[in-house]
Amino acid sequence: MTQTSNPTDWHPASWQTREASQQPLYNDSERLQNAIAALNRLPPLVTSWEIEALKGHLAAAQRGEAFLLQGGDCAESFAECSSEIIVQKLKILLQMSLVLVMGLRKPVIRVGRMAGQYAKPRSADQETRDGVSLPSYRGDLVNRNPFTAEDREPDPDLMLRGYERAALTLNFVRSLIDGGFADLHHPENWDLKFVSESPMAAEYHKIVESVSDSLEFFESVTGDALHSRRVEFYTSHEGLHLAYEQAQTRYLPHRERWYNLTTHYPWIGMRTADLEGAHVEFFRGISNPIAIKVGVGLGDEHLQALLHVLNPDNEPGRLTLITRFGAKNIEKHLPRVIQAVRETGSRVLWVCDPMHGNTESTAEGYKTRRFDNILAELKAAFRIHEEMGSCLGGVHLELTGENVTECIGGARGLKESDLARAYKSQVDPRLNYEQALEIAMLIAGHVRAQK
Ligand code: PEP
Ligand code: CO
Repeated sequence: MTQTSNPTDWHPASWQTREASQQPLYNDSERLQNAIAALNRLPPLVTSWEIEALKGHLAAAQRGEAFLLQGGDCAESFAECSSEIIVQKLKILLQMSLVLVMGLRKPVIRVGRMAGQYAKPRSADQETRDGVSLPSYRGDLVNRNPFTAEDREPDPDLMLRGYERAALTLNFVRSLIDGGFADLHHPENWDLKFVSESPMAAEYHKIVESVSDSLEFFESVTGDALHSRRVEFYTSHEGLHLAYEQAQTRYLPHRERWYNLTTHYPWIGMRTADLEGAHVEFFRGISNPIAIKVGVGLGDEHLQALLHVLNPDNEPGRLTLITRFGAKNIEKHLPRVIQAVRETGSRVLWVCDPMHGNTESTAEGYKTRRFDNILAELKAAFRIHEEMGSCLGGVHLELTGENVTECIGGARGLKESDLARAYKSQVDPRLNYEQALEIAMLIAGHVRAQK
């Protein structure tokens, strides 16, 4: 395998010489240094073996031989590090992946926005209410949401609490998977009541039956029970809070490379992709597979320069581009971006995030997304890639396994008036269990129909 050469002018703290946007301002630098030192001593959350295995799978997806399913909360919260919520999230991701395997006839790479998605970019450093200004809430890794001076003060120890929650989440996910939790044998038990009203009910039931049949066929041919085979599951989060990311970044002598061991697959968000900025500097030196969010504001030359800086050796599996234009803008922007990347000769994995370009606010002030816009952007992404001789290799979704009411539409026909009933997200609206499964089925159906 081609290996990215280690940049010699890089070290885990070299980002500190650059302008770092979206970072909390800690007032107590001694406590900050103590927290970083403690994090630095603690064992890593993931290993380089897992990271390199994932990179290999992503390289296959770049060649069109696999498909990425990446999903989870916009922001995880410490309070929701609970058995029920983790189980439900893992369950929906596994069920979606099975539907996609059947529809796409390709291996599906499962990645959670999980076990570390605790820091959020904000549009302003301060939030003002009734004439009082306090630091913005930047996620549980940084401060607390209630609007009091004490809660909003960035607390360095929260990085340790975040590391612990990530470790607890990952430990539970690994145990569930090892214990055969992926109970894919009984799709008839999937909660599909919601489709009974849908004109697509028959189609959904056909998919569920074919999942069942294929599992039986697979097991009778291989003599192997599928649940005894290890399902691979990887973690990802936005690599936003650089002190936290740096503290778990290690040089591994057996690989002669640096790895960020807080997660398998970090991404650079829309607001921190400045070429000269600290985030790009940090990401340049780690050997994980990484992703970049690409929205309407990212120009062609900027993107081309990012590809060069972040993957100078064009290493397979290293770079993913997650496009998030919105249903209204994808026709205009995706073709130019595909063309701009093509001009560089860079290998990338193309992934569509149909969530972040489709956010809107209701008259009552709820942030929401319409199922129809999400689906429209996904379908457009498949079509535009195909038309341009490129390949959409994955989807990136904000979802939860719970029965929340945050996005409008879907087979059950959630309306604006339903949002108040179970709106739980502190940040962006997520697809609920039913809507997420439905999206997977619609993708599977769409791709099969094109073949
Ligand atoms: C996100 O993924 O939650 C996010 C903030 O995305 P973006 O950087 O694309 O706006
Ligand atoms: Co979000």
